[in-house]
Amino acid sequence: MNQRIGIEAMALCVPARYLEMEDLAQARGVDPQKYAIGLGAKQMALTDPGEDTVALAATAARRLFDRHRIDPERIGLLICGTETGVDHSKPVASYVQGLLELPHDMRTYDVQHACYGGTAGLMTAIDWIASGSNAGRAAVVIAADIARYGLRTPGEPTQGAGAVAMLVSNDPRLLEIDRPAMTGMFSDDVHDFWRPHGRREAVVDGHYSVDCYLEALDGAYRGWRKKALERGLVRWSGGLASDGLAHVAYHVPFCKMAQKAHAKLRAADLAEVGRPLDPEAEKMEAVRGARSFEAQVAPTLVLPSRIGNAYTASLYIGLLGLFSANDRALPGRRIGLFSYGSGCASEFFSGVAGPDAASPELKAEIDRLLDSRERVSIAEYEHWMNTDPVAPPTLEPRPGTYRFAGIDAHRRLYLRG
Ligand code: HMG
Repeated sequence: MNQRIGIEAMALCVPARYLEMEDLAQARGVDPQKYAIGLGAKQMALTDPGEDTVALAATAARRLFDRHRIDPERIGLLICGTETGVDHSKPVASYVQGLLELPHDMRTYDVQHACYGGTAGLMTAIDWIASGSNAGRAAVVIAADIARYGLRTPGEPTQGAGAVAMLVSNDPRLLEIDRPAMTGMFSDDVHDFWRPHGRREAVVDGHYSVDCYLEALDGAYRGWRKKALERGLVRWSGGLASDGLAHVAYHVPFCKMAQKAHAKLRAADLAEVGRPLDPEAEKMEAVRGARSFEAQVAPTLVLPSRIGNAYTASLYIGLLGLFSANDRALPGRRIGLFSYGSGCASEFFSGVAGPDAASPELKAEIDRLLDSRERVSIAEYEHWMNTDPVAPPTLEPRPGTYRFAGIDAHRRLYLRG
């Protein structure tokens, strides 16, 4: 039996503070257009020690359970995809289970492969349901991270943080994933970005990482396209195979990366149809490509441009932005998704937007979350960046959120607001 499986509901958590990129550009003596146009960044989320990865993940999960009145007994699997966990052994998923007082009869674990961890969790949840091992139950997959490169580094303007919690089930009211095995994969052993034990900041070979991302996209997209063409999900008929996707959400380390990615994806299609790219054709493709970027990709960048990179959560923040645009034409249309984790692992997959993919309630909630954030000055930003991550935080948690509250006998403590 071909079951319908996918994302039933999603919830977002963003840190309470953000930095305007224009302020950062001014402080670093950089032309603001480099950040605004060159990287496509407007704002960048900023955490304080109270907002660690557990607090972000638990807050997103709490919102998911509360807003959708999810019966905890429905859940048999809780996975957190993260690369910025808080312990070498105890997973973030286990903290979330405790903080939300979830039942004991479930699997809980973290998945790590840089920014790909959330997608690895999502694919595992889908396979778990498809196999029947779920015995009628649903999964919760959380992608949560704090992206940190450090002050005055080239990566500084590409930091950020956030968490997305997803309910994965046989009732995919947001996104029904195309399956079985409708994904294209590309992985390799590369040193483009990594974070050795004991370091808070990532080590990154920035320009090389962009090349690795694009090579992975090319491989993963071609793998997906072959299967999608065989199954008749997309066609060449007069255009490019990727024209069959209403939208494409990419992993977004910074928004301009999605623009580069989309050009690469179209180039992979053009190469396949053997269209010659003489100077005239190249000009035409530049115009078509720009139009296609505006229609297929730009709506997925609204949230990432205001949050920055959130590693595992970035792709799903982009997707949530699409769903929260309240676009009535979206339900029933096919969306492509590209997940990339440095190191590297990547996957291109697709799904069809469900009936809840255009909801005024979701839009209102996301608007409220972003609008309630506090803008910080450069001095405050640098203060929080230099603060010991385990310094006892002073702020009380806002209603419905969790905050890290200090360490007692090697145990991390959390407060709920
Ligand atoms: P950089 O060297 O500071 O920037 O680092 P640049 O000189 O390459 O400039 C960036 C762009 O701004 C260029 O555009 C410039 O032309 C433009 P492009 O050529 O790329 O189209 N520019 C301007 N535009 C308008 N007006 C101006 C102006 N000046 C310049 N005045 C870099 C940029 C992204 C490398 C750096 O920020 C970095 O290292 N970031 C971190 C690494 C990263 O995000 N990599 C992305 C791919 S890897 C990935 O996605 C995985 C990851 O999420 C981690 C994980 O998996 O866990 C990172």
